[in-house]
Amino acid sequence: MDVSRRLFVRTFLLNTAWMAGLGGTQRLRLAGELVPSPDDNRGVLNIHPEDYPALAESGGSVRLGFNPVRSNHLPDGTLHPILINRLESGGLIVLNAECPHASCAVRTLSQSSNTHTCPCHASRFGVDGRRISGPAPFGLEVLESEICPDGSLDILVPRLKFSIASKVLDLGIFKRIKIDFPARRKVSYQVVFKSEAADDWQIVPFATSEGATLSQSVFPGEGLLTSLFVDVPKDQGIFAVQILQEEV
Ligand code: FES
Repeated sequence: MDVSRRLFVRTFLLNTAWMAGLGGTQRLRLAGELVPSPDDNRGVLNIHPEDYPALAESGGSVRLGFNPVRSNHLPDGTLHPILINRLESGGLIVLNAECPHASCAVRTLSQSSNTHTCPCHASRFGVDGRRISGPAPFGLEVLESEICPDGSLDILVPRLKFSIASKVLDLGIFKRIKIDFPARRKVSYQVVFKSEAADDWQIVPFATSEGATLSQSVFPGEGLLTSLFVDVPKDQGIFAVQILQEEV
């Protein structure tokens, strides 16, 4: 997988805060940042619209995926891509790219026709997702999104949420944190850390066995419950597991 082409985003769903207090007092807690609600299966994707030149102008459109898209226009995995369109009003709208007819991934907006077309059976949809023609029984799902104070865009993506469990392992001469989560097939993950809520996330090297060298930065999911191991930080901070996405 060519990770260098991937656009790095803060895509995470449940944080584990790690407190390494004085006197060896240590505890774990769930920060719960950006989790819409406990029974909501949506996860938050945060992007910076300026990272996508196509979104600079009205009618611009990008398609972002967590799984690759196959030549038959279905995702190679369980997550469909999303579509982000720049509206005439200057705002952004986010659509689920899953066609309501037979689930193919709908293409980005055509600048000439101002419509999305499904590559499988040619259903057409407007810039706002409404159905225009074709066998699709209704329009594309509009995803909830919100511009953040820093100008980035938070998008609530269906089925993106996952849970994380963590614990501290005492390996004698050093300690490690074991992070467990279900890693979806063909989805790539990173572990990130920040000391304070306002800090930027930093990528953390990890190992896939408890005593191994921390030499990896991207984990390619295989559809299995996965354990990653990281060092215990010197000070308090927050760990998160984030998903990578790219234009597809
Ligand atoms: S899957 Fe889109 S029109 Fe059939």
